[in-house]
Amino acid sequence: MKEKMLMGSASAAYQAEGAWNQDGKGASIWDDFCHSEANETGITGDVSCDFYHHYAEDIRMMAEGNQNTFRFSISWSRIVPKEDRVVNEKGLEFYDKVLDECEKYGIIPNVTLVHYDLPDYIGRKGGWCYDGVSDEFAYYASVVFKHYGDRIPLYVTVNEPNHNAYCDYLVGNYPPNEKNNLQDYAHCGYNMMVCNAKAIMEFRKLNLKAKIGIVQGAGPSQSLYETPEYQQAVKYCDYFCNDWVLDPAILGYYKEDFVEAIKAKGIDLSFVKKEDLEIMKENTIDFLGQNIYSRNLVKPNTSGVTAFTVNNKGNNDGTGKTARETRAIEGWFETDRDPNTKLNPWGREIYPRCAYVTLTKRKERYGDIPIYVTENGHGMYESVDDNGEVNDEARIDFLENYLYWIMKAKEEGVNVKGYYVWSNTDLYSWINGYKKRYGLVFVDYEDKNLKRIPKKSYYWYKEYIRKYMDNMDN
Ligand code: BG6
Repeated sequence: MKEKMLMGSASAAYQAEGAWNQDGKGASIWDDFCHSEANETGITGDVSCDFYHHYAEDIRMMAEGNQNTFRFSISWSRIVPKEDRVVNEKGLEFYDKVLDECEKYGIIPNVTLVHYDLPDYIGRKGGWCYDGVSDEFAYYASVVFKHYGDRIPLYVTVNEPNHNAYCDYLVGNYPPNEKNNLQDYAHCGYNMMVCNAKAIMEFRKLNLKAKIGIVQGAGPSQSLYETPEYQQAVKYCDYFCNDWVLDPAILGYYKEDFVEAIKAKGIDLSFVKKEDLEIMKENTIDFLGQNIYSRNLVKPNTSGVTAFTVNNKGNNDGTGKTARETRAIEGWFETDRDPNTKLNPWGREIYPRCAYVTLTKRKERYGDIPIYVTENGHGMYESVDDNGEVNDEARIDFLENYLYWIMKAKEEGVNVKGYYVWSNTDLYSWINGYKKRYGLVFVDYEDKNLKRIPKKSYYWYKEYIRKYMDNMDN
């Protein structure tokens, strides 16, 4: 019998749970940031869609929507709230209840250990640049593995090291809000990969049947032309957002050319330790989680500028005309623009074929590693119409087109084992707050019960899954 494709949707702790200080939870760096003056909008994830109290309803809706898997993350500060490492039993209990609901409907949990929300006590010591972070993470991870064991068949260590480090140290829109700091970007990235390896080391000690992976944010870089200069720009962009995550995670080491390139860029690598590299070599992932939104379209850097922008405040007028996502590193590459490709209102390309390119290129470089598309989704401004419905045709169009290319890659032999729409319900979209909605299910934030209203895309996805599974059975 053919193995069943996992098809579901995803969320993350800080973005969905709310209950930020309930039942013994400690604060995370996102709680601190959102409650500080650095958060100019004043918008927080304190309540969000309140998954903490709505999990049963949300998981039931997934099941009713034919979804057979749910990706969520555990809040580290719910499990180990303080520096003293004392475990918060109520935190463990909460996710036990979430897992109970999943089991009730046969929904396979795919669980991330950290999705941007480091505990505040780690943040105060330097966050991802604190060299003790990997030991703290390994401890927290071992608590989770020992408690949940094989109840969770798919574990993810770190969500999107590249995007997380990028926003933390280059764009500066995520805490600790540093800008253009390539040195800390590299240091943070290295520590994240040590975290990944040390968590896997703890995981292997338990001999579980479960599998463990990492989630990568970026797809491979691309260019409009094939000249040597353009190819060089593509290579540098891959050094910048792909290779430093995927090579150590999958191969167990950083490639020589990459190391030489970053040294030539003037990055001080004195944070690298021989014993970490040994641990990385021994502890690689079982599967890759790949988030798919867009491509990195690049050209040679002619501006001589190093600068980074994302869809944050000031670059987010919702018109799609001036808003752009750009990145540039002097001497390496800069973002290119294809006039034939549409942008979403936040300045991000809508380019479904990137899903195919991403998946086939992963196979080209890393062979048959199992891949789960851990996020794919479309942010929109949305409201309920006079009939009480949310007609998100643009999202359906987006998902349908991306799925076409994902399934094509699968049919052509890429080992794609699962797919998750980002997100199951509307939730807190980091610095984009609540106006940028991604959910298959609308959340009425004005309603005191945070009423859930399935969008048209929810029903479309339900039907897509049904047809897909029927075809698989025949
Ligand atoms: C992914 C993250 O990069 O993109 C999610 O893993 C995030 O946490 C999603 O919400 C959408 O990004 P944004 O910035 O549009 O909210």
